Amino acid sequence: MTQILPDAAESLRPDPFAASEGGLSDRCPMSVPGGPVVVAEAPGGGPAYVVTDHDLARAVLVDPRIGKDPALAPPSWDRWTSGLEPTAAEQPSLTTLDGPAHAALRRAHAPLLSARRAAAFAPRIREIARGLLADAAREPVVDLAADFTTRYPLTVLCELLGVPLDEIDRAAEACRGVLAGDPAATGRAMATYGELAASALAPGRTGLAAELRDTVPDGTSTGTLHYLIFTLLFAGQLTTDPAAGFLLADALDGGRREVPADDLVRDVLRRHPPAPLSLWRFTTEEVELAGTTLPAGSPVLVDIAGIGATVTDGADLSFGAGPHFCTGAHLAQTELRVLVEVLREGYPDARLAVPHSALRQERPAGLGGARLTALPVRLVP
Ligand code: HEM
Repeated sequence: MTQILPDAAESLRPDPFAASEGGLSDRCPMSVPGGPVVVAEAPGGGPAYVVTDHDLARAVLVDPRIGKDPALAPPSWDRWTSGLEPTAAEQPSLTTLDGPAHAALRRAHAPLLSARRAAAFAPRIREIARGLLADAAREPVVDLAADFTTRYPLTVLCELLGVPLDEIDRAAEACRGVLAGDPAATGRAMATYGELAASALAPGRTGLAAELRDTVPDGTSTGTLHYLIFTLLFAGQLTTDPAAGFLLADALDGGRREVPADDLVRDVLRRHPPAPLSLWRFTTEEVELAGTTLPAGSPVLVDIAGIGATVTDGADLSFGAGPHFCTGAHLAQTELRVLVEVLREGYPDARLAVPHSALRQERPAGLGGARLTALPVRLVP
């Protein structure tokens, strides 16, 4: 059910999984008072324990008794309603494994997406941002949320991974397919992702996909390698796309033009986290969290949005924390910072074509974050 975000969110505790729409200053439905552990009705049925306290959340994110494998989910849950990935046994991945197997995959990814590598990619990322903004600037007024914010991170990811750039439109369609929420569309999208991964791994191609093939643990199947490449494309696109929209909206807001690009990026990610709730975790045994007893097999989430709304010292959890901390954090922040710099250097007179207060955000049902409904911009007045 769609709900309009109330200004006074305190009046009612909204369902954290409901679709919503509202203005940019409206509070995210998860950022409601309460806790440190709030019990909500899970989309798949039964209780979901949402951790709203910063210190407790950091403890949960490193707690070995709280695992990621969807095989731990309540047996009554439907995969599609709950937004669960395949289990670790069906499809090992960064997001479903824990412990040594997860650590081995993290080591394989570490050299690809380090801060040093992200810095080395910056000049190419800058060229991509310049080219795409120049295309957008051909229109007198362009809705940057309609295509640009999707195309920019996807082009960066495809370029870095080694996916041919004439595949961008198919990649964008596959991203939408995974989110369609029905098995047939997801199946088609995953087949497309498999083809994109295979194209990046074709003989003679270079890029992060080929590097990953050389760093994954011995015995990793081709299907798993494809899934890891899918994870990078999907996780990188799904998050950086809406973040770019909120960031551009702020960068074009008169009052924020002097804010250093890095500060603006951190602040926008804190206030509009692309992942407002963590991914699902499940207790592997009975666990007590701040006086609340969670039986074994209980679903646990971290209220990233709510915690971001209460911290101002850079201690937000926009990229998570602990062993599952976002592998793409350096790349994402580089992409977003470069975007602000290219906008300010190339289009110093760019303006929003509507008042900032008229911009709207919408959020789909489930765990996903909000995005702007539109971002009309006059790049060249
Ligand atoms: C602004 C952009 C981004 C945000 C806000 C973001 C946020 C997050 C968060 C919160 C997590 C942890 C989820 C949890 O522990 O439950 C995560 C994990 C992850 N992210 Fe990102 N992300 C972003 C961009 C990217 C990019 C660009 C990539 C890849 C190129 C990426 C790849 C991943 C992967 C693979 C994981 C899983 C790591 C693991 O489980 O070990 N993300 N991200």
